[in-house]
Amino acid sequence: MQFAGQGAYGRSVPDTSSTLRARVHALLHFTDPTDAGRRWRVLHLVVLAIGIFAVITLSIDDLPADTRNVLRYIIWSVAVLFFLEYVVRLWVAPEAVRLAELSPAAARLRWAISLPGLVGLLATMPAVMWLAGYKIVGPDAASIFCALWILKLGLHAPALGTLAHVIENERAPIASVLILFFILLIVAATGAHLFERVRQPEAFGSLPNAMWWAVVTLTTTGYGDVVPLTTGGRMVGSVLMISGITVLAIMTGVLATGFAQEERRREYLRVWEQVARVPLFTSLGVVTLSEIVGKLRTRYYPSRITIVRRGDPGDSMFFISSGAVEVRLPTGGTVELGEGAFFGEMALLERQPRSATVATSRPTTLLVLYASDFYEIASHIPALAEAVENEAKRRRTENVDRTSGEPKR
Ligand code: CMP
Repeated sequence: MQFAGQGAYGRSVPDTSSTLRARVHALLHFTDPTDAGRRWRVLHLVVLAIGIFAVITLSIDDLPADTRNVLRYIIWSVAVLFFLEYVVRLWVAPEAVRLAELSPAAARLRWAISLPGLVGLLATMPAVMWLAGYKIVGPDAASIFCALWILKLGLHAPALGTLAHVIENERAPIASVLILFFILLIVAATGAHLFERVRQPEAFGSLPNAMWWAVVTLTTTGYGDVVPLTTGGRMVGSVLMISGITVLAIMTGVLATGFAQEERRREYLRVWEQVARVPLFTSLGVVTLSEIVGKLRTRYYPSRITIVRRGDPGDSMFFISSGAVEVRLPTGGTVELGEGAFFGEMALLERQPRSATVATSRPTTLLVLYASDFYEIASHIPALAEAVENEAKRRRTENVDRTSGEPKR
């Protein structure tokens, strides 16, 4: 996507972020946070799932001819949709930030020869074959498309980008675990080779053969096709099995921690982007703000979703960074709160159940602050606590005025 005032060639052009091409790019690359973006993501997954299901089913041998034909048409149809998607992706390629400096033609060429471009092109092959008159998709060819389609999903899904970041950030511990894995593999294979080669020359006669047994044992797969028979071999096997569980547990821990840290970092950036829209935060200094940002969480809600229900216990308050909510007061009246406003503070301040039901009146992004974090922040930043308390007081008075009596709970 190009930035305002900075064109594809570095010269000044109008902001293109709102053009159709930019919107389609955001949609296709799953960066569009609106309802349309969500619908596209679901549609993309459904089409892909149908295509893969058809390919998998086609590989069953004794299917009736009619079913086979239906499956082939499904595969062609999915491939035709992927063909159209490929063409559109080619069209929107110049919107990619990393290709923004290139001319549109060069950006498209660069995308076409990139991994996602090549996989996207190959995924359209059943459609191309169909258009070229080859109407038969055999199970073997189809299963290759199945692999390509799932790869296509992986390349475009944000999860793979996250995995790449995790591997990049955790490369040192991952490398240590892999080195440990190979040390165990070689030592165990050598030990088993020495103990077992006389009794089982076929399975343990050479190091590569012994390594097959070591990999199967170390990864806790345990096919059971080869087992040590000597006491020495069994001792090596026992140590290897216990080490295998340990190595896999360390690797799981490294990756799980990496994913959690990556998600926290991304959430922090998402909150930074949103927080500027809440006036209550804009007057705070960077240090104070960064403390708050670390405690906020972004949540997206479609239209007409209830966020808090009157009478429920309150465990968090919310800041509206985009969209709007409707507060349904116990008196029967409603109040609309828009971008920058907050709600859910009264239950936290008064330590009482929710005083009203609040639901989104359009697609809304909220910043959530949990009660424990709210109390901590309120004690650190009196100005913020005071602003929230004053607004809560005003609302309470307003609610009392509306009912001309005690506030209803
Ligand atoms: P809480 O009681 O935690 O949950 C419902 C929320 O609705 C409440 O906090 C306030 O944030 C909000 N609310 C209640 N009354 C009003 C009002 N008169 N105007 C705007 N918001 C209100």
